[in-house]
Amino acid sequence: MKRAKISIIGAGNVGATTAHCCVSAELGEIVLLDAPQSGDMPKGKALDLSHAAAVAGSDVRVLGTTDYADTAGSDVVVIAAGAARTPGMSRNDLLATNARAVDSVAGEIKRSSPDAVVIVVTNPLDAMTYRAWRATGFPPQRVLGEAGALDGARFRACIAEELGVSVEDVSALVVGGHGEAMTPLPSCTTVSGVPVGRLIPAKRMAELIRRTRQFGTEIVLMLKTGSAYYAAAAATAMMIESIVRDKKRLICCSAFCDKEYGVGGCYIGVPVVLGAAGVERIVEIEFSPSERDSFCKSVEAVKAVVEAMDQSYPSPRAC
Ligand code: LAC
Repeated sequence: MKRAKISIIGAGNVGATTAHCCVSAELGEIVLLDAPQSGDMPKGKALDLSHAAAVAGSDVRVLGTTDYADTAGSDVVVIAAGAARTPGMSRNDLLATNARAVDSVAGEIKRSSPDAVVIVVTNPLDAMTYRAWRATGFPPQRVLGEAGALDGARFRACIAEELGVSVEDVSALVVGGHGEAMTPLPSCTTVSGVPVGRLIPAKRMAELIRRTRQFGTEIVLMLKTGSAYYAAAAATAMMIESIVRDKKRLICCSAFCDKEYGVGGCYIGVPVVLGAAGVERIVEIEFSPSERDSFCKSVEAVKAVVEAMDQSYPSPRAC
């Protein structure tokens, strides 16, 4: 059976850790690319990862490079390039720097891997996913952003800790943009099938939702020189697995919604079925009135960022 080819653009913390997760799960051949000024760094990390593969008994090859020719014909490309925030910054403060980085990476992907599914991890997430979609010109089903898998994992961890139960038994969805207005959905959260509302009172749930929204910032404040990456990388690898193994998992991702959820043309976090073709279906579910309100606010916040970006840094290609 032919192995999937997975290229990861950006060999920093998120990119290299995503590569590690993919190697451990034997998801396919990995190419880890960084900019030419990084010198031999991606090669060094790839060599180290190939030894981690040996420890894991994983028969995958890992190539480190600064040349996009090595990524040619990838099945999945992850965009993990660009800057991470530091204390005092919001994800939106990365807009100018990262829009340029995503434009350049997306142009290269379009040339070298025209059939790939592209997963964007660069922040501000929803705006950068939109940007990558515009710059590649790929169908929206093949360009998506990693956020809901991470935010959902954080919400699950929070609930498991609160109840003193295994995180394995907690199932939860977080929709909306990857920002302070993200929308955890208690109405879609269960513990081994028990609706969470029967286990946690509404007032306490509101506190857990507030904490979930703040986890990214909480970690930045402690790390000081960058942002979280272990969970983002694990979440990205989970999405890659669903694509390369055509598992059709239902995962919240930043996906292009037009008529869906009445969003009207915007990348935003919603539940999708992820398979070999990328976003195979957006699943529309009914939110509670307060969840709907929060989701709409989040959509407006993402739209405002995208508008500001389009005005200040016009995309190289209009759709
Ligand atoms: C976070 C950053 C990576 O939420 O967006 O941790």
